[in-house]
Amino acid sequence: MRKIIDFTDNWLFTKPGEPQKSVNLPHTWNAVDGQDGGNDYWRGTASYTKLFPRPALEPGGRAVLEFLGAAMTADVTVNGKHLAHHEGGYSTFRVDITDVLRDENTLTVAVDNSENDRIYPQKADFTFYGGLYRGVNLICVPEEHFELIKDGTLGIFVTVELSDDLKTAAVKVETQHNGSEVEITLCGETKCVKSGAEFKLDNPHLWDGTEDPYLYTVTARLPGGDEVSTHFGVRKIGFDPNLGFLLNNRPYPLRGVSRHQDREGLGNALTVKEHREDMELIREIGANTVRLAHYQHAQEFYDLCDEYGMCVWAEIPYITHHMEKGRQNTLDQMRELITQCYNHPSIVCWGLSNEIAVHGMSEDLMENHQLLNALCHKLDPTRPTTMAHAFMLDQDSPLIDVADIGSWNLYFGWYLGELEQNDSFLDEYHRKHPDRVIGFSEYGADANPRFQSPRPESGDYTESYQCVYHEHLLKCIEERPWLWATHVWNMFDFAADGRNEGGKDGQNQKGLVTFDRKLKKDAFYLYKAAWNKREPFIHICGRRYADRAEDVAEVKVYSNLSPVTLYEDGKALETKDGRTVFTFKVPLTGEHMIEAKAGEYTDRITVRKVSEFNMDYSFSRKGPVANWFDEADFDSSCYSIRDTMGTLQGNPEAAAIVNEIMTKARASRGEVAQSASSNPALQKMMAGMSFEGILKKAGENVVPAATVREINAKLQKIRK
Ligand code: GCU
Repeated sequence: MRKIIDFTDNWLFTKPGEPQKSVNLPHTWNAVDGQDGGNDYWRGTASYTKLFPRPALEPGGRAVLEFLGAAMTADVTVNGKHLAHHEGGYSTFRVDITDVLRDENTLTVAVDNSENDRIYPQKADFTFYGGLYRGVNLICVPEEHFELIKDGTLGIFVTVELSDDLKTAAVKVETQHNGSEVEITLCGETKCVKSGAEFKLDNPHLWDGTEDPYLYTVTARLPGGDEVSTHFGVRKIGFDPNLGFLLNNRPYPLRGVSRHQDREGLGNALTVKEHREDMELIREIGANTVRLAHYQHAQEFYDLCDEYGMCVWAEIPYITHHMEKGRQNTLDQMRELITQCYNHPSIVCWGLSNEIAVHGMSEDLMENHQLLNALCHKLDPTRPTTMAHAFMLDQDSPLIDVADIGSWNLYFGWYLGELEQNDSFLDEYHRKHPDRVIGFSEYGADANPRFQSPRPESGDYTESYQCVYHEHLLKCIEERPWLWATHVWNMFDFAADGRNEGGKDGQNQKGLVTFDRKLKKDAFYLYKAAWNKREPFIHICGRRYADRAEDVAEVKVYSNLSPVTLYEDGKALETKDGRTVFTFKVPLTGEHMIEAKAGEYTDRITVRKVSEFNMDYSFSRKGPVANWFDEADFDSSCYSIRDTMGTLQGNPEAAAIVNEIMTKARASRGEVAQSASSNPALQKMMAGMSFEGILKKAGENVVPAATVREINAKLQKIRK
């Protein structure tokens, strides 16, 4: 039997410029400075040292160190001898230290997260924490043992072929070991073979997503006693351009979220407790898929996805910025990801890259993708490859054809443009490429729960706008069942130390839940109402919007029940039938108890009428985004700022006005006056955007409201 010695405790941590200190794993040295903004978190080489006695080994036995996560590179030295160098901060790697063992041993691991030009990730919207942020073990095995070193393998691989009628499964088990023969046991049947065996399961119990994620366990044993086991699932996955994702022969639209592996105060140094908490929150909204962005996550989390039936998009951190010297690292990280995660039934695809062409395309980038794609198919012919494309990538880009399927990261209605452009973009792409399997890999809007508004607007960082945004996007994805998977960006707020927006320095706040997991934003309940079929509930939005300056307030209720009745101070106001979102108008005169009821389920908030908008709710401290105009200002027979850029560009006089202000705006932001025409994809995007939306996005200090009124007045003089 192999013996696993836990090396979690008693490490001596040394970081340049700081006194040595004792730490336990998991540990990151960026738990604080990686989350507090300023993009100034410490990146460099720090070291971890641990003393340990000689482990008991059988004659000919081996002692192998196992590192579950060392970011981003590690150099392993034992008793002064350098034994291994590993590049890639998210996978497991192992080192055989048998030959250098003494009675008392000194292990030193130099870990580095410095900036460089060949190990991904280097440029992306998340903190690149450094440290031994998962566990370390010492594995002692007999002379005859399963492979441990090669790409951090488990030494056992299970490939399942399920018949079309789902009635029989061929389970192929392959093992890697240095023994003479191996006993493989499945469902009480044992086969004694050289390395591989095939089992036949009649009427197998299927792994059927969140409804019934049944897992089998297979065990392999060597005569010398070494033993490994793995769980696996019997399932059939399919991808169709019109039906989207299929699980066990039926359309099974994947609707869920993305997750980063970090948490406030801990960085990425999580334990299984935090992983479980995250899974419980993802299950609570009723998601059936998780995009584990943008790198290989902890095995515990893939195991939880297997256990709870979450279909997983797994990926490597080939992200944002292509590096010519990074090719080998992408191949290494992908080989380790697939080798270490192959048996997880929850994983349904391998993500090659994320928005990798935002800085342009190149032959080298294309070749890198072709090599990655070929590697995935070689290591795993059972799963497709995918990519997450940025919205400005040309829909006819040859890059899209490299992977088997693809998905889009769209942020219309947040970073730019209108909410409706998400719908039109996806419909146009589906129409142009009816043979392509299309997903929606990212969409989201930042929200700081402190900020509220009676007139929510894109870019105001309010919880109110995040609701408006996700209500639109939820409808968008419900109307497009051909989207094979959709992933909210993001389930949780996460550290992006380079950011300073929305009143929280160092965070990306697109989460449905805050970084500390303590607060579920209102939009969390929208998805719970739409997707959770198990747990009846009702939720009133706006509990953090207590001071209301409006005479009549809009009160939204999210529920998976119907009808819903709203009460004010105990008096029934209105009952509505419907699904997911229920909107009510509530007159305000003083302090009120607002209750929503559906059957036995109820929720309540208190609000009070105030004379002036409470500026504490406004991120920009300027109150709700100014309403520049009243409706009366718009004569629809003439041009106005409400027209799209495409419409305005169609009239020479109007175009001249627009181009003049756009050039001035760019100049004021110090941008080279480079019109969108340098990027046809972007030009097409902007054509669908309203000029008003672009001016608002430009912001008051670039285009003051008075200027906007002047522009509109000029346009209104031009008859259509
Ligand atoms: C991009 C990127 C994410 C990033 C997100 C955002 O699409 O893939 O890593 O966090 O946009 O800007 O919030």
